[in-house]
Amino acid sequence: MSQLIAFSPSPSLLGFGALSRLPEVLKERGFRRILVVTDPQIASSGILQKVIRPLKGTLDLEVLDTAPTEPRSGDVEKEKERFGAHFDALLGLGGGSAMDFAKALSLVMAHGGSLRDYLGEGKVPGPTTPVVCVPTTSGTGSQSTQTTVFTLEGIKRGVSSEYLRPVFSIVDPELTMELPAVVTRNAGYDALIHAVESFVACPYSRVPDRPILYQGSNPFSRGLALEAFRHIWRSYRWAVKDGQDREARLGMSVGSHLAGIAFSHSGLGLVHALASALGGMVDAPHGVCLAACTHMGLRYNFEACKKDFSFLSATVAEIDETSRGRDSAESFLVDLQRLIVELGLPSKPSELGLKKEDGKKLLDGVLIQTRRTKTNPRPLDHELISFIEDGL
Ligand SMILES: NC(=O)c1ccc[n+]([C@@H]2O[C@H](COP(=O)([O-])OP(=O)(O)OC[C@H]3O[C@@H](n4cnc5c(N)ncnc54)[C@H](O)[C@@H]3O)[C@@H](O)[C@H]2O)c1
Ligand SMILES: [Fe+2]
Repeated sequence: MSQLIAFSPSPSLLGFGALSRLPEVLKERGFRRILVVTDPQIASSGILQKVIRPLKGTLDLEVLDTAPTEPRSGDVEKEKERFGAHFDALLGLGGGSAMDFAKALSLVMAHGGSLRDYLGEGKVPGPTTPVVCVPTTSGTGSQSTQTTVFTLEGIKRGVSSEYLRPVFSIVDPELTMELPAVVTRNAGYDALIHAVESFVACPYSRVPDRPILYQGSNPFSRGLALEAFRHIWRSYRWAVKDGQDREARLGMSVGSHLAGIAFSHSGLGLVHALASALGGMVDAPHGVCLAACTHMGLRYNFEACKKDFSFLSATVAEIDETSRGRDSAESFLVDLQRLIVELGLPSKPSELGLKKEDGKKLLDGVLIQTRRTKTNPRPLDHELISFIEDGL
């Protein structure tokens, strides 16, 4: 156990208009040869052109615009040969999928081998090609985290290392204005659960020493997670309902970014572990899997989190008129379920096709997510399987 707390966020620039500063950010750092990593949709939507137009002429750019949504390890490894390793930096442009692709590619470019060699925490042997991120969704917070996520053998796995933390990020809500409602919803739910799970994570003084900064909840992460939750709860519904609501888009950019910084210093918990296991079993986006696993994960943690859930419920009541006067742990779970239903998200895994007999497989998928489970507020015990089976 450690009583020390570490806080090492990377610099970022956030707000409408932040993108205009990208050229100077790259030049100041001496990045001349840059590989832009993005996905086909961002490339065809005009966002890619908007981002690279001011860079052309002064910087030496190459573009990889084939990063798939929710990438598999093999998708990344095959690009290593195509592009070589002669870049000063990679620019991850897009949602979590494209940013994670850039981080994973920077790793295999710098150290060779396959992603499997670095699975888990603290296995990256040294610095990688620096990554600068420009998110186009308000969700994962990947622009500020030390993790890259990909699917390996049908299960979502991750490599986490402080060497993977992007060296800079530009978070401009203007880039999210055309985000379709369904992506706004799915990515936004991810951000919301980052804030909640970071806030309630196991306190740092009870988490064994970790090679990276998933150290349990601590004074830095708690403050950021709570502020992230406030911004997200205030903006999320409105951003989904009216994508042109600039205030809501800004709120989601701020909230998702703060939530990313928070959880990258605290770690997450069981809802993420369940959703990662579920994500390997069904073809559904991360945010959708999180919604389906929220009830079962938070119910298992209920006794350990009662005080924090009540506190979050009081925060909801400050924002929502319909929740005024309610500030109990139970009402927080009710409010979350109401939000899930209102936004048309699934409230249990069976809505995504899981059967009663899939409970054991889901549990097995959870048990390998040690990156998540070590910071869960309640240690995993034999009762988990009944919570899974009841919640399916
Ligand atoms: N690294 C981390 O710390 C971390 C944390 C949480 C989740 N993740 C991972 O991130 C991925 C999910 O990322 P996501 O939710 O941001 O979605 P995404 O990157 O998968 O994008 C979803 C879809 O939205 C499109 N899109 C993105 N921005 C757009 C825009 N501005 N306008 C129009 N279309 C746009 C994309 O092209 C894609 O088709 C998952 O693989 C998840 O596991 C990573
Ligand atoms: Fe997430």
